Amino acid sequence: MKIVIAGGSGLLGRHLIRRLRNRGHHVVQLVRRPSDSPDDREWDPYGGESTAPLLRGADAVVNLGGAGIADRRWNPAYKELITRSRVVPTRALAEGVAETGVPLLVNASAVGWYGDTRDRLADETDPAADDYLGRNCREWEAATTPAAKAGARVITLRTGHVLSADSEMIKRLVPVFRYGLGGRFGSGRQYFPWISLLDWIQAVQFLIDSEVTGPANLVGPTPATNADLTRAMADAMRRPAPWTVPPFALKLVIGEAAVELLRGGKIDPAVLNDAGFRFRHRTVEEAVNWAVGSR
Ligand SMILES: NC(=O)c1ccc[n+]([C@@H]2O[C@H](COP(=O)([O-])OP(=O)(O)OC[C@H]3O[C@@H](n4cnc5c(N)ncnc54)[C@H](OP(=O)(O)O)[C@@H]3O)[C@@H](O)[C@H]2O)c1
Repeated sequence: MKIVIAGGSGLLGRHLIRRLRNRGHHVVQLVRRPSDSPDDREWDPYGGESTAPLLRGADAVVNLGGAGIADRRWNPAYKELITRSRVVPTRALAEGVAETGVPLLVNASAVGWYGDTRDRLADETDPAADDYLGRNCREWEAATTPAAKAGARVITLRTGHVLSADSEMIKRLVPVFRYGLGGRFGSGRQYFPWISLLDWIQAVQFLIDSEVTGPANLVGPTPATNADLTRAMADAMRRPAPWTVPPFALKLVIGEAAVELLRGGKIDPAVLNDAGFRFRHRTVEEAVNWAVGSR
């Protein structure tokens, strides 16, 4: 297949591109910087130009772009950038897909769609939460509409926290737990939607090859709380993790984005399960062991 990928220089894109190329796919990367690689095409997602010339002849477009949620402290300007950096490129690509008749658009989204579900298990039929991240995801997914209206199969990847040796989450937690300073955030009862990078990559490939259309939750099959994650990290690092990080301290350090860690959805990967996807890492313990062990 010829697959065009935008936002491919990030954590998920890098790994996905390597996997797709290893599988013999022809991957063309849309890049926002000058490049002389024959498989790169320069693009400006904000320039207002049609993306059709970049997408013509592709069998699929995968869009993984967006300014990092936890890269900076949130303020109104950065929250606006978080949304704009997802919605504007997505719409530009969806319009290009519609114009060229590319049959498949796979677009990033996130479990922020669901907000805090407490103990209720949410699946893809749940509406978006009425909070900042929920509204952000709704706008992001809605930007794919031109592609769907033109008859393309559109999949939105509602991804949980991706665990791998090089994910920010694991890179930040490992030193803390190594020195015995690990602990749960707040009560630890809040859900922490997770997936291993290995399963994320395999699930995206599975979805591309499937007939699935619409949203798909990319989360592991066994929901875990923050306390479960803490225990898994402590066991993997063979260190105690007796501490509790109070919510106010977390907010002091990372600001409003702490909401991602202090609240979370209990989420079912119903679409992947129903389509027959088999997870390699079925519990957060397995995913953490794999992520920490592969460092
Ligand atoms: N990793 C996770 O745990 C996770 C969880 C839930 C959802 N997601 C979503 O999945 C997607 C990929 O995740 P990731 O972890 O690979 O993200 P990432 O490492 O932050 O990379 C995202 C990519 O987006 C592009 N980008 C950055 N700033 C941009 C801007 N202002 N405007 C347009 N494009 C910009 C960059 O690619 P180029 O320079 O190549 O354009 C960057 O490499 C993101 O949309 C993310 O929100 C990720």
